[in-house]
Amino acid sequence: MSFFIHPPAWQLREHQVTTESAYFTRRRMLKTLLGLGVSASILPLTGCKSAQTGPGSELEQTFQLPALGPIRKNPEFREGDRPLTTQNLASQYNNFYEFGGTKSIWKSAQALPTDPWTLEVGGRVKNPRTYDLDDLRNTFDLEERIYRFRCVEAWSMVLPWVGFPMRKIIEAVEPTAEAKFVRFTSFYDETITPGPGFHFGSLPWPYEEGLRIEEMANDLAFFAVGIYGKELPKQHGAPIRAVLPWKYGFKGAKSIVKIEFLAEQPATYWNSLMPNEYGFEANVNPEKPHPRWSQATERFIGPGATLDWEMKETLLYNGYAEQVGGLYQL
Ligand code: MTE
Repeated sequence: MSFFIHPPAWQLREHQVTTESAYFTRRRMLKTLLGLGVSASILPLTGCKSAQTGPGSELEQTFQLPALGPIRKNPEFREGDRPLTTQNLASQYNNFYEFGGTKSIWKSAQALPTDPWTLEVGGRVKNPRTYDLDDLRNTFDLEERIYRFRCVEAWSMVLPWVGFPMRKIIEAVEPTAEAKFVRFTSFYDETITPGPGFHFGSLPWPYEEGLRIEEMANDLAFFAVGIYGKELPKQHGAPIRAVLPWKYGFKGAKSIVKIEFLAEQPATYWNSLMPNEYGFEANVNPEKPHPRWSQATERFIGPGATLDWEMKETLLYNGYAEQVGGLYQL
C-alpha cells in the first residue's frame, strides 16, 4: 500500500524530506565547526524560500538551456516501477554545499562559471587528456539513461540523465597497472563559492570524491552532461558530474574539473569530515543504518506538479544488485 503526503505549499523544506535527526544534527555539526573556529563568517541559514515557477520566472530561465539532441534513449536503462521526478522539483531541491547549506541553492548556484570549462584527466595513465566544453559534449556518444537516485538523507528521485559511461574515459586515457583508484575534484574558487549568505570557507574544499577503478569501469557508472534532454542546469553540477546510481548521492561529485587515477585510496569530502557517518564505499544498503537514522525506507519525490512523496522500501544497491553485486562482498 502506498500513501502520499501533500503539504500546503509545493516547496520542499529540508526538515520535511531530510529526517528530523539528520536535519538538526547537520546544523549541530555546523555550529560545532563554528565553535572550533573552523569558519570565519557564517551567516544565518535562510531556510527554503518560496519558489517562482511560472513562465518567465528565474527558474524558467535556468531551463532555457540548449537541448542536447538527438539523444538515444538507451533501452537497457529505463525504469519499470517508478515514474520520473518532475523537473521543477529535481531542479529546486539540490545539495551543492559550495553554494550554501539549504536545499534551495538553485539561485546562488547560477554564479558557477561553466563556459569556458576545462576537465583534466591524468595521474597514472598512459595518455593524459584535457577536455573542453565542446569535447565533453561531442567526443563521446551521448545517451539518455533513467536512473534511480538515492540520497543518504533517505529521500530519492528518478532522473533522466544524458551523458556517457565512465568507462569511455578509462579507454581514452589508458590507466597504468598501478592505477587502483580514481579521484574526482569539483570546481572551487573561494571568490565565487560559497554563495551568498553562507560561508563554509575553511572546510576541506574542493569537494572530492573517489571510486575503486573496477567501480568506475562498471557499466552503470556514468558522467552526466545533461538532464531532461538538455544541458545540465548549474545546480545539478554543470557542465559534467558523476552519477553512480547504486551509491548514495554524495558520491556523485558535481562540476568536475579534474579526474586523477591513483595508486592509493583518495581522501573524500564527507568521509574526511565525518568518517563514522559517511563511508568511502557508500553503497545503498537498507540493512546498514546510518548511525543516526534507518536506511530501510525512503521518501520518493515523484511526478507531482506540487510536492508529492511516497514512502518506498529501499533496495540493496538501490535496485542495481544484478549489475554491481559482483563488485562487493556483503
Ligand atoms: N558535489 C559537490 N561538488 N558539492 C556537493 O555539495 N553534494 C552531493 C552530490 N554532489 C555535492 C556534490 C550530494 S550530498 C548529493 S545528494 C547530490 O550531489 C545531489 O545532486 P542533485 O542536487 O543534482 O540532486
